[in-house]
Amino acid sequence: MARLAYLECGRCGQRHASQRLHNVCTACGGPLLCRYDLDTPGLPALEEVLRRPAGQFRLHELLPTESGAQTPSLGEGATPLLPGAGLGAALGLPGLLVKDEAQNPTSSFKARGMAVAMARARELGAVAVCLPSAGNAGCAAAAYGARHGLEVHVAVPQATPRAIVRACRALGAGVTEVPGSIADAGKWMAEQAAQHGWFSLATLREPYRVEGKKVMAYELVYELGRVPDVVVYPTGGGTGLIGMAKAFDEMQSMGWIGAERPRFVSVQMAGCAPIVRAFESGAETALAWDAPAETAAYGLRVPAALGDFLMLRALRGSGGSAVAVSEEEMQAGCERMARRLGLWPAPEGGACVAAAAKLRARGWLGAGECVVLFNTGSPFPYCA
Ligand SMILES: Cc1ncc(COP(=O)(O)O)c(C=O)c1O
Repeated sequence: MARLAYLECGRCGQRHASQRLHNVCTACGGPLLCRYDLDTPGLPALEEVLRRPAGQFRLHELLPTESGAQTPSLGEGATPLLPGAGLGAALGLPGLLVKDEAQNPTSSFKARGMAVAMARARELGAVAVCLPSAGNAGCAAAAYGARHGLEVHVAVPQATPRAIVRACRALGAGVTEVPGSIADAGKWMAEQAAQHGWFSLATLREPYRVEGKKVMAYELVYELGRVPDVVVYPTGGGTGLIGMAKAFDEMQSMGWIGAERPRFVSVQMAGCAPIVRAFESGAETALAWDAPAETAAYGLRVPAALGDFLMLRALRGSGGSAVAVSEEEMQAGCERMARRLGLWPAPEGGACVAAAAKLRARGWLGAGECVVLFNTGSPFPYCA
């Protein structure tokens, strides 16, 4: 049985009932986070969870859907954690591991969030949903919308790769291309949502996509039997990072781990790096990035994020860091992973290789550390 107790605003702490559809906190506009009953006995021990079939809903008690282990799935989750092999050697990180999220349905980690958010939206009575997307989230929304029988509307920046737009349409979603960045697509979509009564699944403007993404951190502990030393993650809207930080807190509350945390590293592109700038300046929130530069890492072209303060808290609270990389460094990172590991990553994954190289050169990453680098998607959708 799911143990979802209530929703809590990540900014002001206001509680909201979990049994109806919510977007942001009605008191302050902050992002809502799921809180579970972790005190009532009966939670499975880690050993019991490990005996269950692998997959996104393995620990269904700590996911919000009422259908629990029976929640419809497209086979998301349980992605491989690959030894870094030649890539680790090249970076001077023999303990390097690569979590390959490209092996999810629709070829990115976005499937995890949509698997949960779309199932929950359906349970709570949504009929039509919408979101702005850099591409991958829209594609995942289209797939899970089709699976759950929900109408899906996606707004994407005009620069979005053709293959992604085609895939969204093939999966039955309505797609509108909006000039500018994802922030412009977001503004346009907010107006449409209000006009048509569509439920918004925009990043952190509903509480359940984060829940799907937090499972990545659970899987690290299932696989390693411990918390890694460092997690290097490409950051746009930040749901992956925020979800994983939340998951480690939950694991500590359940007694699975102690107070140890991986040092989180947020990776952004130099032409749009609001979180890196805020981290370096010591700010608690990030100023919006003016005129974000075009980049091949579409998912990282996010000039402002609602969850900026949650990301910055996770970075600082874990003793982590934030690194911006150039387009050339990102491309070189892709090539390195492809040739040294046999895994051609999404540009966002290549950006993580470049960030790890920088941090190793600075001595911030030690040779003996267990460093997990995320490849969040496949480059194939970006090719056409
Ligand atoms: C491949 C890929 N990696 C990373 C990101 C950034 O994810 P988040 O917005 O959760 O920070 C995105 C977002 O679109 C993406 O598509």
